[in-house]
Amino acid sequence: MTDDLNARVSDALSSVQNPRVGKDVVTAGMIQDLQVDNDGRVSFTFLLDRMDPATLVRQMRSAVRGVDGVSDVKVKVQEPTGAGAGAGGGPPGGSPARAAPPTPAPQPIDLPGLGHIIAVSSGKGGVGKSTVAANLSVALAQSGLRVGLMDADIYGPNIPRMFGVTEQPPVRNQRIIPIEAHGVKLISLGLMIERDAPAIWRGPIITKILQQFLRDVDWGELDYFLVDLPPGTGDAQLSLVQSAQVRTSVIVTTPQEVSVGDGLRGAKMFERVGVPVLGIIENMSFFVTPSGERIEIFSSGGGQRLADELGVPLIAQIPLQAGMTEHADQGKPIVIAEPESPAAVVLQDIAKVLRSKVAGKGVSLPVITG
Ligand SMILES: Nc1ncnc2c1ncn2[C@@H]1O[C@H](COP(=O)(O)OP(=O)(O)O)[C@@H](O)[C@H]1O
Ligand SMILES: [Mg+2]
Repeated sequence: MTDDLNARVSDALSSVQNPRVGKDVVTAGMIQDLQVDNDGRVSFTFLLDRMDPATLVRQMRSAVRGVDGVSDVKVKVQEPTGAGAGAGGGPPGGSPARAAPPTPAPQPIDLPGLGHIIAVSSGKGGVGKSTVAANLSVALAQSGLRVGLMDADIYGPNIPRMFGVTEQPPVRNQRIIPIEAHGVKLISLGLMIERDAPAIWRGPIITKILQQFLRDVDWGELDYFLVDLPPGTGDAQLSLVQSAQVRTSVIVTTPQEVSVGDGLRGAKMFERVGVPVLGIIENMSFFVTPSGERIEIFSSGGGQRLADELGVPLIAQIPLQAGMTEHADQGKPIVIAEPESPAAVVLQDIAKVLRSKVAGKGVSLPVITG
């Protein structure tokens, strides 16, 4: 019976064409480790080249879901590593395409007492990653939890400004004491270094500095530790995730994010190191007029699309909020400056959902929108 289901799943997969190579995904050798169990749970690895349309993941998922008897579909997206991968634009002479370089696992640092360690990440900058990290931290602190926030975005460390913090953190007994603002303990590389230095730093230096931070900061006992990661999915991010022992992550995106591939690569980074993605937070999703009308300014659906591709929930859609940047520039996250505003209400709700999610509850909560 499983054999029959297996065949039907294979057939469904063969119906998905990869237009880049002009073959279906099975013939193109993109499917590996296909497994179908007695309960109809299907899992396989999908070798997705950088040049391939990321939408193939969703197409495959829905093709397999449509097969009678399939109860669940798990897709592990990987970049192919063998010769010939990434074809098109490689150097002449037929040298094998670059395989993903093995990332040496940095020594994880033992961080007892930091509570739930959650990374806030994004495929690219400017989507509101720091805004989300800052407001979630404050909202969690407002509900009486002990919260730390590490601004690890060396390329654009804007957390201090969002909290109105300008002073250097003090050093006591050879340990750095985080600055407390709006009930959150903060550390940012932006507070510690010369303004323009990071632009010239390379990955290994960044990794060293961040590890030092993790060791030398006296965080005390926390319930939640949020990490505002640098945008992107390079080695700096990866080693940070590993050395900070990040346990879970959320990915922030915007509705018009065309490059679902960015988000996919972000999720893959977390997958490589076994860190689950709790879900997607879509920011700047719509605008609520003073009379309460909801207007979608950008083309919509980016967050849902990314969530579908990854098989994780879309946690929330945060509206565009007039005045948000001005408040932030004056050191007031929106949940403090205008707690009743549509964006602040959604952010407070996300904090609640995070709490129940990390506690292993409430996984099927509806998407929060304003
Ligand atoms: N929902 C929103 N409504 C209005 N402005 C926003 C919203 N989210 C973020 N912003 C503004 O967009 C800019 C980029 O946000 P930021 O959090 O710094 O992005 P990132 O950390 O991803 O680079 C900031 O000026 C911020 O105030
Ligand atoms: Mg930022």
